[in-house]
Amino acid sequence: AHQWRGVIREYADRLPVSESTRVITLGEGGTPLVHAQKLSELTGSEVFLKVEGMNPTGSFKDRGMTMAMTAAVEAGAKAVVCASTGNTSASAAAYATAAGLTCAVLVPEGKIALGKLSQAIAHGATLLQVDGNFDDCLEIARKLADSYPVFLVNSVNPARIEGQKTASFEIVDALGDAPDIHVLPVGNAGNISAYWKGYKEYAAETEYPAHGGDAEPRTLAAVATKLPVMWGFQAAGAAPFVAGHPITHPETIATAIRIGNPASWETAVAARDESGGLIDSVTDEEILAAHRWLSSKEGVFVEPGSAASVAGLLKKHAAGEVPSGKTIVCTVTGHGLKDPQWALRTADGAEVEPVKVSNDVVTVAAELGLE
Ligand code: F0G
Repeated sequence: AHQWRGVIREYADRLPVSESTRVITLGEGGTPLVHAQKLSELTGSEVFLKVEGMNPTGSFKDRGMTMAMTAAVEAGAKAVVCASTGNTSASAAAYATAAGLTCAVLVPEGKIALGKLSQAIAHGATLLQVDGNFDDCLEIARKLADSYPVFLVNSVNPARIEGQKTASFEIVDALGDAPDIHVLPVGNAGNISAYWKGYKEYAAETEYPAHGGDAEPRTLAAVATKLPVMWGFQAAGAAPFVAGHPITHPETIATAIRIGNPASWETAVAARDESGGLIDSVTDEEILAAHRWLSSKEGVFVEPGSAASVAGLLKKHAAGEVPSGKTIVCTVTGHGLKDPQWALRTADGAEVEPVKVSNDVVTVAAELGLE
């Protein structure tokens, strides 16, 4: 029986690893590409969800972290550091444990979801809550890695982007070609950069440099015949690409993407422009409506930041700008259990209270309308 071996082993010939590389993996990748029935009916296109919450720590970060931690070990690092809105810290903490490295994470105080905080602590990371936002945390993490013997595992590390590009490979492998449109949330902008890199590598004959003592340079044939148009969506209160400049005080309930000064600015703009795509914004209300759509109509539970992609698709559909008869993939980046509080409110914000019943079948049947 075939067991998925993690993104490095599955795509070794397209990643900077060699035969002798010690691979740090928790079996990430190989996530479901779910046909979204209601979104497909609505738009008249075939809409799929790349469900990245199914990764080992519940977000797409694991694809990049397997590569970053493998690179850290290869470089002889003893300690890793990252800044995070939560998911990167959860992933770094888990993969550092698997690698036998110590891990420090810097998070914005009071602005990360409880599930993510719990993961970082459970995996034994040193967690520091910084009196500042994600952008401040990243600046400190970069300075730390510049001046002290710690290895930076944020997406400014190219190994992260290499790992994350494998999501595009999986989508093409599943669909037989690239989709017409790829939609995803944008925060620090590493992921849109990584997807675009992956799609480009799969659509052209690609040369990969030698890596390590025993690797030969490789030239691999094209797998896809086309490239998608990339649509990125930011939260309206944290939308520097829409503003055209960094935002000093980003605000959104989607804490995962509460970022004002994205590190991968140029590569995200290149993904947008080379693909003929766009980066737009969605309001917190639109994000929560998409979050509800996914859970109540598609059966897919995501965290709010993840729903920005689908919120964007719904916004563009309402504006009459989603073509029919196409193939569209929306990445949903993190699991709903990361930040479950948002499910416990109705559309108008009221708290949902489970109904209490007595320990008796007739009462339960009556409550269910069966009596
Ligand atoms: N969705 C989720 C669930 C995220 O956690 C992030 C980023 C993004 C989308 C945006 O991806 O930054 O590559 O544009 N989270 C980072 C973190 C910043 O620290 O966990 P991006």
